[in-house]
Amino acid sequence: MAGIEEIHVQAVQWIKEAGQRIIQSFETILDIETKSNMNDLVTNMDKDVEHFFIERIAERFPDHKVLGEEGSGHDLDELNGIVWIIDPIDGTMNFVHQQRNFAISIGIVENGVGRIGLIYDVVHDELYHCIKGEGAFLNEKRIEPMREATLEESIVGLNAIWLTDNKKIDKNITAKLVREVRGSRSYGSAALELIYVATGRLDAYISMRLAPWDFAGGTIIIEELGGKVTDLQGNPVHYLKKSSLIAAAPKLHQTIIERYLS
Ligand code: IPD
Ligand code: CA
Ligand code: CA
Ligand code: CA
Repeated sequence: MAGIEEIHVQAVQWIKEAGQRIIQSFETILDIETKSNMNDLVTNMDKDVEHFFIERIAERFPDHKVLGEEGSGHDLDELNGIVWIIDPIDGTMNFVHQQRNFAISIGIVENGVGRIGLIYDVVHDELYHCIKGEGAFLNEKRIEPMREATLEESIVGLNAIWLTDNKKIDKNITAKLVREVRGSRSYGSAALELIYVATGRLDAYISMRLAPWDFAGGTIIIEELGGKVTDLQGNPVHYLKKSSLIAAAPKLHQTIIERYLS
């Protein structure tokens, strides 16, 4: 069976190749479809990139499984063995409208435990990656452990939709949070927002609903840097379940849950 280092080397090579395919697609006309609603977009490139990984993983690591946003492994009900959790393009709306602010996100989980995290900001050629227990890196440069910020000095990533009427949270709570922190930002890619938390560009990121492919890669990297990722009740996230999510350094994580969410 392949060792974790070998899997990491291979994943790095493939994610860069997949990034090249996406860059090349900027010269082509995208085929854009909608999924659950008119704003839920998917392109031929989302499908192409997921397919790219499925084919290569099946050939090189036939005993590994894949859970991917665009259809792979949606019937998985347990996390035994090695599972690659892949979002081929996180931030598809940005990809379509802006050709930036999107990423490829991969979390590699062994028997339910996150072992490898990779988030590739394709346009900036910035690959954030880690093997659990060996530190996290931006390309070849080691990323410093996460630092705490006070609530009053923190910048929080949050989709503005959660400040409007919605079924998941009282908008007065999110409005109060946004008023009381130093600043708020909405980037439109959960994977990038998680990596911004990991690298200190954001101090916290909050979402009311994400899928495992949105948060797997980022969670593994944040945890490697000493940060905390849970649902809004403070429970660990599960790599097969959709959930709410809050990511931050441990003290700020606790402060936000205590002051606003419990
Ligand atoms: C979406 C992005 C977005 C988040 C959505 C996700 P997609 O992923 O991460 O920031 O708010 O919940 O679905 O569909 O672009 O891969
Ligand atoms: Ca999507
Ligand atoms: Ca996503
Ligand atoms: Ca996606």
